[in-house]
Amino acid sequence: MNPSKRSIIAQLAQLRVLPILVTDDVEQAIRCVTTLAEHGLPAVEITLRTPNAMNVLREVVKACPGVTVGAGTILTPAQLDAVKETGAAFGISPGITPVLAKAAAESGLPYFPGVGGASDLMLALEHGFDVVKLFPSDIVGGIKMAKALGGPFPDVRFCLTGGVTVEAMPQLLQQSNVLCVGGSWMCPASLIAAKDWAAIGALAAQAAAAAK
Ligand code: 3PG
Repeated sequence: MNPSKRSIIAQLAQLRVLPILVTDDVEQAIRCVTTLAEHGLPAVEITLRTPNAMNVLREVVKACPGVTVGAGTILTPAQLDAVKETGAAFGISPGITPVLAKAAAESGLPYFPGVGGASDLMLALEHGFDVVKLFPSDIVGGIKMAKALGGPFPDVRFCLTGGVTVEAMPQLLQQSNVLCVGGSWMCPASLIAAKDWAAIGALAAQAAAAAK
C-alpha cells in the first residue's frame, strides 16, 4: 500500500468520522471545511454531485492545506483522473465496477470503493482494496452487515456511510472491523445555505466527541 494511503487510513482510524460535503459554492465550501477542521474534523469528503464540484475540490485543496480533502461520488475513470488533477488526497465511490476498480488501482490515488455486500467486496479485494465504504449503510444492514462480512473477510475494514447519525456513532464504532463512519449530517445543505458556521462547528464538535 502506498504511504499516503496508509496515512489517510491511520487518520480515519484516529478521527473515526468523515464529514461529507455537498456544495457547489467555493467560498462556502472553504468556510465549511475550515469550520469542520477547527472543531476537530480535519478530513472531509467533497462529493462530485454538483456541476462545479471539481472546481470546489481544487480550491478547497489549495485553501485548506492542513485538511485531508477527498473526493466522493466518483463514478467513472474520467472523474477519477479529474479528481487526481485537483490535488485531492483520496477518492471514494458509492459502489464498484470492474472498469473503475481497475482504473483506481492503476491510478495511484488513495481510493476506497463502495460495497453493498459480499460480491462487491470480492471484486474490491481482487483489485487490492481492503478498506471500503459500506453504502448505503443503514439500508444494507450497517453494523450487522459489517459483522457478517467480517466472517469470510476478516482483514477488511469498513467506513459505514448512508443514514448514519451522531446518536448511532458510539455503537457503530464498537464493531471491530468498522474503521470509521461518514455522513453529511455535520454540514447539512440548510446550514450551509444559511451560512450558519457556528451550528456546523457545533455539529462537528459533537461528532468528534462521539467518536472518542
Ligand atoms: C454519501 O455520499 O456517502 C451519503 O450521501 C452520505 O449519507 P448521508 O447523507 O445519509 O449521511
